[in-house]
Amino acid sequence: MTPTPFPRLAVLASGRGSNLQALLDAIAASTLDAQVVGVFSDRPDAPALQRVPAALRWARDARACARREDFDAALAGAVAACAPDWIVCAGYMRILGDAFVARFRGRLLNIHPSLLPKYPGLRTHARALAAGEREHGASVHFVTPELDAGAVIAQAVVPVRPDDTPERLAARVLTVEHPLLVATVALATSGRLAECGATVLLDGHPLLHPLRLDSNGRLHPEES
Ligand code: GRF
Repeated sequence: MTPTPFPRLAVLASGRGSNLQALLDAIAASTLDAQVVGVFSDRPDAPALQRVPAALRWARDARACARREDFDAALAGAVAACAPDWIVCAGYMRILGDAFVARFRGRLLNIHPSLLPKYPGLRTHARALAAGEREHGASVHFVTPELDAGAVIAQAVVPVRPDDTPERLAARVLTVEHPLLVATVALATSGRLAECGATVLLDGHPLLHPLRLDSNGRLHPEES
């Protein structure tokens, strides 16, 4: 019998790529049954690209593209060509156009460094500190055309400490982003997740609250 090939992941990244590395490490450790079939970037100098063999890299400088739609169409074509089951935005800092989202809707995930719906967009750590939050964290959500507004699948929470700076808080959040992303992608690749409008379906049932990451890297229903 031929073994079933592992689900195919396309990863979009603009920067350092530590979340991509967390996925690669989990795959190498056989804790995530998946394969990364392409890494895509809007910045040809993104360190994330160096984390995979050259054959898996695609990059184009979005700033050199005269029209936003041209970049989006080139990206969408390249992503589609690697036939991914799931597309994971892991530190991808460019807004995806409506056509891109429509083409891959339902299998597009993003990790965002805040407890959504709080602090969509940029500078999340500084804004959480300025607001006097006592807890902060990260979310993995389905991508919709509106920025950081899709249905939230899972979250990880960290405390905010009195002496925090945005940098210290970002570093603490990053430590939970990695297991959060791996655990959520594992749910996706095992066929347990679906997007139904503004609702996440887990094993076919609506998820009323995002799942929460525990200290062992496992996801649980949120305690209410
Ligand atoms: C992460 O905090 C991610 O949530 C945010 O950008 C950062 C990227 O980190 N969108 P890395 O490139 O995965 O190391």
